[in-house]
Amino acid sequence: MDAHVNVPQDGNFTIRPLDGLMGAKIEGLNLSATLEAPVVHDILDAFLAHHILIFRDQDLSKEAQVSFTENFGELEGHVHRLPNGKKLPPVHIVNNLDPEGRPTAKPHTTGNYHWHTDKSYHAVPSLATLLHARELPPTGGDTLFANTTRGYETLPEETKQRIEDLRVIHSWEASRRNTGNAPATEAEKKDRPPVTHPLVRTHPGTGKKALYVGMHTSHVEGMSESESRALLDSLASHTTKPEFVYTHTWRPGDLVMWDNRCLLHRADTNYDMDKHRRILYRTVVRGSLPF
Ligand code: OGA
Ligand code: MN
Repeated sequence: MDAHVNVPQDGNFTIRPLDGLMGAKIEGLNLSATLEAPVVHDILDAFLAHHILIFRDQDLSKEAQVSFTENFGELEGHVHRLPNGKKLPPVHIVNNLDPEGRPTAKPHTTGNYHWHTDKSYHAVPSLATLLHARELPPTGGDTLFANTTRGYETLPEETKQRIEDLRVIHSWEASRRNTGNAPATEAEKKDRPPVTHPLVRTHPGTGKKALYVGMHTSHVEGMSESESRALLDSLASHTTKPEFVYTHTWRPGDLVMWDNRCLLHRADTNYDMDKHRRILYRTVVRGSLPF
């Protein structure tokens, strides 16, 4: 047996760390069922240790994905309501479809193809995101993850000291600008005013420091635009170097759960987007104020 295999107390499922920096594969667990507290505990331990959990062979309804997600905290719901006032199920559908439901290489937003950490333009950004593959292209459509703890730890000492206490403005407006998308509307800007987060954040679960950068950043507090951009871009390119990256190649039935507090991620366009549908169900767990 693989020396890394961790067989939890009920013996029904395995948690196998991937070779390399991060990620673990969990097999033999049916996430549609109600999970016992010790199982949730094992999953949380693995989540803190490996940052990306890949649950194989799942077939979850939206409701089941919501229930599974609720094991880890409060769901980030939608602001909008149905005409009857009811809340929408807080499942977001990630896809490459046009308004007529046809696959397209020019989806209405291309934000996901740039390195980011979910909702860093919120005062309280997302803790975890869960994506469940429902329809996949025959090959490609990967998701890449970059380890921002390793990114921080491998910086030269003088850079660490220089950035230690810096704070960064993140905003929806900057995000739209950075990714070349249609500019944020006045209503959007009012809805999502800029927020400020530490450039180096401490993970509340592990106590480790990590870079907090990505496409939603505007500028460093008290620094000129150009100096800010150069610094933020150089930190982002450092932490997304291949040695800090895991590329997830999706298999039907995969559910992947990742930690937004110590990772950047992005979708890859490595498939024929005009031809093949790529549909994933997405739920998000609310986080806490970064410090
Ligand atoms: C997301 C996201 C990437 C992908 O759902 O937050 O960035 O590969 N998705 O679809
Ligand atoms: Mn994302």
